[in-house]
Parts: sequence; C-alpha cells; structure tokens
Amino acid sequence: MCGIVGYIGKEQAAPILLSGLEKLEYRGYDSAGIAVLGDNKINMVKTKGRLKVLFEKIHGGTDIKGSIGIGHTRWATHGAPSDINSHPHMSNGGKIAVVHNGIIENYLKLKASLEEKGYKFVSDTDTEVISHLIDYYYNGNMIDAIIKTIHRIEGSYALGIISSEHPGELFAVRKASPLIVGVGNGENFIASDIPAIISRTRDVYFLEDNEIVWFKGDTIKILDADKNEVKKDIFHVDWDVSAAEKGGYEHFMIKEIMEQPKAIEDTVCPRIKNGEIVLDDIKITKEHIEKLKRIYIIGCGSAYHVGVVGKYVIEKLTRIPVEVDLASEFRYRDPLVGKDDLVIVISQSGETADTLAALREAKKRGARVLSVVNVVGSSIARDSDDVLYTWAGPEISVATTKAYSTQMQALYLIAIHLGINNGHITEEQKNDLLAEMQTIPSKVSKILTNVSSLQSYASKKYSSKDVFFLGRGLDYCVALEGSLKLKEISYIHSEAYAAGELKHGTISLIEDGTLVIALATQKDLFEKILSNIKEVKARGATVFAIALEGNTEIEKEADFVVYLPKIESIFTPALTVIPLQIFSYYMAVNKGCDVDKPRNLAKSVTVE
Ligand code: F6R
Repeated sequence: MCGIVGYIGKEQAAPILLSGLEKLEYRGYDSAGIAVLGDNKINMVKTKGRLKVLFEKIHGGTDIKGSIGIGHTRWATHGAPSDINSHPHMSNGGKIAVVHNGIIENYLKLKASLEEKGYKFVSDTDTEVISHLIDYYYNGNMIDAIIKTIHRIEGSYALGIISSEHPGELFAVRKASPLIVGVGNGENFIASDIPAIISRTRDVYFLEDNEIVWFKGDTIKILDADKNEVKKDIFHVDWDVSAAEKGGYEHFMIKEIMEQPKAIEDTVCPRIKNGEIVLDDIKITKEHIEKLKRIYIIGCGSAYHVGVVGKYVIEKLTRIPVEVDLASEFRYRDPLVGKDDLVIVISQSGETADTLAALREAKKRGARVLSVVNVVGSSIARDSDDVLYTWAGPEISVATTKAYSTQMQALYLIAIHLGINNGHITEEQKNDLLAEMQTIPSKVSKILTNVSSLQSYASKKYSSKDVFFLGRGLDYCVALEGSLKLKEISYIHSEAYAAGELKHGTISLIEDGTLVIALATQKDLFEKILSNIKEVKARGATVFAIALEGNTEIEKEADFVVYLPKIESIFTPALTVIPLQIFSYYMAVNKGCDVDKPRNLAKSVTVE
C-alpha cells in the first residue's frame, strides 16, 4: 500500500525523500511524487510509474530546492494510476500539500460540500478533499485546521502535510494507517515504515490514532486531538541496516528464503530455556487456559495458511477445538466468539486492515486476543492483550517467506504452551517436542544447501499453465501456501487440494503433462497419498513429490522427488514449505517476473 516519507532538517529534502521512498517500494505502488518547501512556496513533482521515472524527471532531486518535504508512493484505490491522481495533492492556490495513505470513506459527501463552497477538484482521488478541507479551515493556525479536518473525515489515514504559510514546519497525523516519527540529529522524519529512515536514524516514536505531530525547526511536539501535549518513549531500532537491503542477492525474496534458519532460531531459541517454554510476553494465566472453550485463529493470505497449520497442531496438542477464519470473513459473519475463547491473530505487518478490524470485533465480544506479529509497535500488536513477536526482521519481498515460517514456529510454541498448561502434554512429550523443534533450523539449512535441483526443475517447468498441489493432513495445509506462493509471483494458475477431494471434481482437470506437486510427508497418510499420486499419473500428470528421506518408494510413481530430513510428522510443515518457496521463486525468475513486487499486490494491505 502507499508509502509516505517526510523530512525536515538542514539538507536538501528531495534526494532524501527519493531514497526513503525507494526503501518503501516493497509496499507496492503505481506512481510517486514529492513536494518540497523552498522560497516560501511548494514545489511539487509527481508522476505515474516507477520511482525511476520520478528520479529522472527531477535529476535525482537536484532540481528541487528546499529542506522540508513530503514524498509518496501511491497504490491506486480511488482513481486510476495517473500523474494527476498521484500524490501529493494541493489545495486550490497551492498553499497546502498533502500525502495520504488510507481511504477516506465519506469523501464523496465532503467533495460535494467543498464544491458548493467553490473548491475545484482536479483528481479522482479521495485524498484531494483533505488538502481542500485543511485550506478551508485554515485561519493562521495549522494545528486547528488539521484537528477540524480529522473531525470531518471518516476512514483511515496517515498524512504528511506542508504549508507555504509555515515554511519551517511539517505536520503529520494518523488513524488506522501506519506512520512513525524518526528522531534524528538536527533532522526529523515521518515514514510509513522503518526501512525508509533507518539509514539516518534508529530512534522512532510510534503514534496512536489521531495524534498530531508538529515539527518546527528541529523540535517535535506530539499533540492529542484536544491539543494536549503527549509524552512518548523513544523506541530504538536495533536491526542491522543490511537486513533491510539485498546483501548481494538478486532479489529480496531469495535473500529472505535463505534467512529462514536464523529467523526461526531467533524466534524460537530465546523462548526455550533449560528445557522449558518461556513465553514472557504472554500474560494469559493457567486458570484462563484451563477454562478455554475454543480458539479462533485469524489472518489473511499466508498468515491464514499458518492458521490452518495451527488448527491441526493446537487441536492435536491441546484437544481444544480450533476454528480458522479469514479476517475479512470473520469481521462480518457475526462470529460466536466470546469471553471463554482465545483469539490468535496472525500478521507480519501488524497493519492489515481486515485483520485489525477482526481483532477489534473479537475484543468487543469479550475474547482475549493474542497476536503473532513481526512489526514491533504496529497497530495489531498494540491493540492485542498479548503479543508474541516473530523475530524475522524486516521482510521486504511482497511474497512472504520468513515471516510465514516464523509465524508457524510461534504457533508451535503457543500450542505446546497451551498443551502443557491444560494438562494434555506430559513432561516426557514436552521434552520430546521441544528437542525435535530445536532441530528445525539446522534441517531448514540443510534443505537450503540444495537449491540447484529445484532451480533446474523450475527451468523445465516454468511454461506450465496450471499446477495442482495435493496433500493430506498437515501436507494439505502447506499445499495451500505452496499454491499461493507460486501463483502470486509467477502468475501461473495453481490450486491446492486435500488429496482425498480430488475425485470429487478436480481430477477432471488433470490431463497429459499437467504438473501436480504432491506432498507426502505424513507418516500415517503416506500410503493414501501414494494412491492419489497413482490416480493422477494414470490421467497423464507429471508428478513432483516431496517426501521424507528414506521413503524411496515414492520414486516408483513420481517423476521428480525432493527429500526432506526426517522429522516428527507434526513439524513437517516447517520443512515442506521451503522447497515450495524455492521452486516458486525460480519459476517466477525463469518467467522474467518482477519477483519482489508482483503485479497488483502490496506488502501491507491497509485497506479493506
Ligand atoms: C502472500 C502474502 C500475503 C500476506 C497477507 C497478510 O505471500 O504475503 O498473503 O500474508 O497479506 O499480511 P500480514 O501478515 O501483513 O497481515
């Protein structure tokens, strides 16, 4: 979704804004623009297309003078991608410029009322009402004008605002869209996310809804909507800068795939101490756990797929019934959730609009919310009763890999923790589970040492039109993710099926040469999936199978096999997904796709 950067300091703003926007490219965008205050007027340049186009248009920013500015990458919602619809948006007369991330739901009503007052609209965007409203309410005091404006607009917004009447100032406000404040040395920033500013400062403030930030010279004041000053603690970001950069890899996606052993280790190891699970971050009590009637797991996309794995694992280890819901469905389906239920919310970004709304719905109905989140201080983390952070580090590639893997580890930890506390896991089982779980990072590393066979198989299969993923039990859960990974980055149509379902319709789609990816890692279901492989082979399919080392029987049926290190059935998803990620990656590379930024997608989906 859209990215925002703002700068106030002593250096030329334009090059800093461009480089910040570059770091937000991962969010997905179709146009970009900046506005800089110089010589008491606002200089604005914006254009449809990649940042490169904007960069060339203003010669890397050197054409635009001034040391205060705002920048934006737009992901179209209201109005097609075009120069005019790109941000910033100016008030009539050019006094005020605004960049916006989010959606103004009542913009049509506001637009009609502003038009009656004589305001002329030039774009099709919802954002343009904001610059005109601020202008309308402006009587010499920007803070008053911003407060009056946020009282009128409904929806979600992160805003960066400059005014030619306030040549040494920058303003910002947010509600339900991400925006952080970067505190530098003699310079300060706003940004949608940390990578945009990390090369200049590691000190940030996280903002609550409707907090207004007023930058003047090198001072920062944060005010609430009643103009009371809000005091905040600075959060120090301790990532390595290179974690937010490509580090020699061709794409962020492959870099992030390769980072998985460490990301898993960072997420799991600090939480297993002396053979015990230590979840300091979770305050839910043993009494509460013992009384739990049901668990809901909520997420979107890959986070939802982790939830499907979580259902199988939690039900097995705790015998508590688990429902998995797509956040966009949960929020509107009048769910039966209540105070005896635990809701586990999963999100990498912590800002996904549907997931956040589902979380709020669950809390409204009395449930306790435990979230599994990667971005520290994000909205979902802040709104939850408990947070278990995944320590995956920044994930830049739009298609998730390391966040998915660490979310899965977080769910294993939660499942074992709940199972111990409700008495379903014995001491001996706990020891076995924890010992096995700690082998995962090295087993993932082992799989990652052998990407070349997958790379070469992808080079033979990338012109496939349709691919079917089959699995049973936990293999089915991973098939869902494998299929999403392939289609979202390579644009090859694919579907995932519980292998037992095939005969109920889908098998009619199998014809000569159709690629079927069969996951065969579940000990108790191995014979069953072998039969399913035979069924598709008999209809002409080419089968790529994934099995555990030693199960060589599969070679009789499959055309290509990848073996995984042996592991207990309950933990196989942590390994099975890895070759699927690698295969999807190379399929997309072979097709020449924009792997890190697939068409039409955004990293952080902050609109419904
Ligand atoms: C797929 C992918 C998406 C996200 C989904 C939820 O590769 O990345 O399906 O998993 O948009 O995003 P978060 O986890 O940020 O809530």
